[in-house]
Amino acid sequence: MDVVICKTYDELSRRAAAVVAGLVNHKPNAVLGFATGSSPVGLYKDLIRRHREEGLDFSKVTTFNLDEYVGLPGDHPQSYRFFMNDNLFDHINVPKQNTHVPSGTSANHRAFCEWYEKRIRECGGIDLQVLGIGSDGHIAFNEPGSSLGSRTRMVTLTEQTLDDNARFFQKKADVPRHAISMGVGTVLEARRCVMVVNGKGKAPALAAAAEGPVTTMITASALQLHPDTVVFCDEDAAGQLKMGDYYRWIQKQADKTE
Ligand code: GLP
Repeated sequence: MDVVICKTYDELSRRAAAVVAGLVNHKPNAVLGFATGSSPVGLYKDLIRRHREEGLDFSKVTTFNLDEYVGLPGDHPQSYRFFMNDNLFDHINVPKQNTHVPSGTSANHRAFCEWYEKRIRECGGIDLQVLGIGSDGHIAFNEPGSSLGSRTRMVTLTEQTLDDNARFFQKKADVPRHAISMGVGTVLEARRCVMVVNGKGKAPALAAAAEGPVTTMITASALQLHPDTVVFCDEDAAGQLKMGDYYRWIQKQADKTE
């Protein structure tokens, strides 16, 4: 796992967006995995800017999102479908029919999850998966204890996640208790992963994910087993990394040769 420590949220967002844009330029029909949450919002803003100013073309791109709340239809303002339309899809030229966000309202969740996995395979697998990290170290909604081989399925959210996400709802009781989430195993099959992490609140989770043991208790730690993962974080999020100076030194050399 490569860790790139950036000075600001803006810088980490721009660097992460450059990786996504580089892939789309190189492979116009790329399959992109997207995440929700506040962390990737800057990355999405920069993709929108590149689309408007540089003509970055998403017309042949296919997308798959990590997760969705059970019970929220796509037009609910707190649904992840709504979030993705609002923060990215409505502002770029990706055909809506090419965008996939798990359905939280299907009649048969199990059948839907099987279809979602099949659809990812049919599209050739995910070329690049964008990820955030939960304060409990989760990726997608793979809460502590999730199998590192897990696939897309219905999950139950932890108290900590309900607390974290209550800020988007009127009250905590409104946060759905369940979600449909890609599994850790599904995420690990993406050819490349880009994780964006910012803020002091994420420092313990990032340190555990990048430098702690690989464990189901911090599902992001499974990315240590992935052959091509890069983490873009800010100084606040990097605050508890033991190898921080080492990562900074490597990045300085890489920036010099660019
Ligand atoms: C939710 C999402 C995750 C996301 C996490 C962090 O739990 N399911 O994919 O990484 O929130 O969100 P934020 O970026 O708002 O801190």
